[in-house]
Amino acid sequence: MKKIGVLTSGGDAPGMNAAIRAVVRTCIFKNIEVYGICEGYNGLIEGNINPLTSKDVSNIIQRGGTIIKSSRSQGFFTAEGRKKAFQNVQKFELDGIVAIGGNGTFTGANIFNQEYDVSIVGIPGTIDNDLFGTDNTIGYDTALNTVVEAVDKIKDTASSHNRLCIVEVMGKDAGFIALNSGIGVGADAILIPETPTYIDQLVEKLDNGRDHKSSMIVIVAEGDDAGGAYQVANELKEQCPNYDSRVTILGHVQRGGSPSALDRVLASQMGHSAVNALAENKTNLMVGIIDKQITYTPFEKCVKHNDKLNKKLLDLTEILSY
Ligand code: F6P
Repeated sequence: MKKIGVLTSGGDAPGMNAAIRAVVRTCIFKNIEVYGICEGYNGLIEGNINPLTSKDVSNIIQRGGTIIKSSRSQGFFTAEGRKKAFQNVQKFELDGIVAIGGNGTFTGANIFNQEYDVSIVGIPGTIDNDLFGTDNTIGYDTALNTVVEAVDKIKDTASSHNRLCIVEVMGKDAGFIALNSGIGVGADAILIPETPTYIDQLVEKLDNGRDHKSSMIVIVAEGDDAGGAYQVANELKEQCPNYDSRVTILGHVQRGGSPSALDRVLASQMGHSAVNALAENKTNLMVGIIDKQITYTPFEKCVKHNDKLNKKLLDLTEILSY
């Protein structure tokens, strides 16, 4: 391994910069040249690939976003795009790639590896936490804390007006953010894509608490089958017109901000381990940390798994919000 490239792809996540820093500094320590591939797989297709030095990654560990930018590359999902990408791998003489991202990133990496035998090691970077093969993905903890901080503020105003506040959080396919932030803010109900939502049951639950609570919070994952926070609010309004309710969509605020200490440590360990893995000729797998141990899981096993979601937390909400 003489030269490797690093890219960030898909939705950015707080802590990606800390991971880039760890990749670059580990490469320098191991006498490996390291290149930044700009805007994810688009940069690989277009040859937007530049050397990274120790100085380039100085003072970035605390910054959100990604200094080498990201994209959801449509081109990389075409055979023609991947051919161009491979030509650039050859042109820049990259012996391996560290790909930081989520489901889409690793699905693309898996196909690319099978077609062209390019060595790729993944680092899980997504606020959604929806990857098998690691307890936490980079960015998830920061996003959770962002949601908790925002909902705490919403609760101040909600309780001043005896209101019901319906808060939509990110998670198209996965309820990790909704479930864990919901527990963290003491939500009255949590609606996630992994379980069906019945508005009748929600009404019953809210009615039970109405007399003894100064405010109520419902957390809705964007991918819940009820159809999002506005839809839930409309249906509730029909069934219980006496509720004074408001909707907040937290949106992309959840993806920004300075990474938490936990995400910085996770990213530093994973960045270091990804370079070690490439140096040991490991490929087509994702670095993870399970029970404090570094693990490597093949890409195809990592993607689209919500199995690790702790549904018992939903039962806990039922008890604690009563
Ligand atoms: O994958 C992370 C994520 O933030 C999801 O939770 C969300 O559904 C999606 O990205 C939004 O993506 P975009 O910024 O491309 O609209």
